[in-house]
Amino acid sequence: MKKIGLVGAGAIGSMIARRLGSDFSGIARLWGIVDIDSDRESFQRRCCKIRRRFDLESLADACDLLIEAAGAHAAGEVARAALSRGKDVLVMSSGGILKDIGRLRRLAISRGGHLYVPSGAIAGLDGLTSAMAGRVSAVTLVTSKSPLSLSGVKGIMPAAIKKPTVVFEGSAAQAVKRFPKNINVSATVSMAGLWSSRTRVKIVAVPGLKENTHELTVRGDFGTLTARSSNFPDPSNPKTSRLAALSAVATLRKIFSPIKVGT
Ligand SMILES: NC(=O)c1ccc[n+]([C@@H]2O[C@H](COP(=O)([O-])OP(=O)(O)OC[C@H]3O[C@@H](n4cnc5c(N)ncnc54)[C@H](O)[C@@H]3O)[C@@H](O)[C@H]2O)c1
Repeated sequence: MKKIGLVGAGAIGSMIARRLGSDFSGIARLWGIVDIDSDRESFQRRCCKIRRRFDLESLADACDLLIEAAGAHAAGEVARAALSRGKDVLVMSSGGILKDIGRLRRLAISRGGHLYVPSGAIAGLDGLTSAMAGRVSAVTLVTSKSPLSLSGVKGIMPAAIKKPTVVFEGSAAQAVKRFPKNINVSATVSMAGLWSSRTRVKIVAVPGLKENTHELTVRGDFGTLTARSSNFPDPSNPKTSRLAALSAVATLRKIFSPIKVGT
């Protein structure tokens, strides 16, 4: 039975905690939870009948796999805590490990751990990773979201946007710098494909849009792939797409399943 440690018990973390209790019986068990919000941590520990308290280091010592669902600021630290002990780690906040991915890779190889990055809020990563086994000439991601969800970004005034407007066009590396709260999708596509300097990103603000949409286009010697997801927000955190939380559960299923379908 694999022991799982959860870091971050918000929208994604609480869904993972629930599903570990219901879908992974006899295979994996939620062993401990760490959240900087102590009320949230206690609530989730009560729900999951976990009495013992951990900090990140003791959780990494006790578990076989850590799951990061806390935020980009925490992702690198959680990944290092697991990988330096030869343990596995699943990282939701992919934007937080993009710059450090080379070092994490070397750590995983030298200690024997694995780093898993779920596809999160986008569709089409299966096709992108297949295409990367051949030759890929272009990867483009177009993200559409409501102007309000871009509030706080320098140079963007949501109230002034009255019609669909391209607010950014450039490399994924530039997108990650300019839109730090929206970095995970760009980072995940970069890691699966042509890296952040060669992945093109366009962000469109669409007044009245209720569902964030992501359209991934890949061109290569296989042909052309287009995948589009139109995402409902997660009921407990409207900034998170429901598909992102589901992708974490799906990745766990794949890790523990004897039969793995899809790239
Ligand atoms: N890959 C994707 O497409 C994708 C999509 C959505 C969200 N995400 C990432 O997943 C993260 C979690 O999403 P969510 O909707 O569950 O967020 P959330 O805000 O609902 O929950 C985050 C939880 O982590 C806790 N936390 C924050 N910093 C912490 C730390 N240093 N140590 C322990 N706990 C900490 C918070 O108290 C909170 O309970 C997001 O921050 C985002 O980076 C990725």
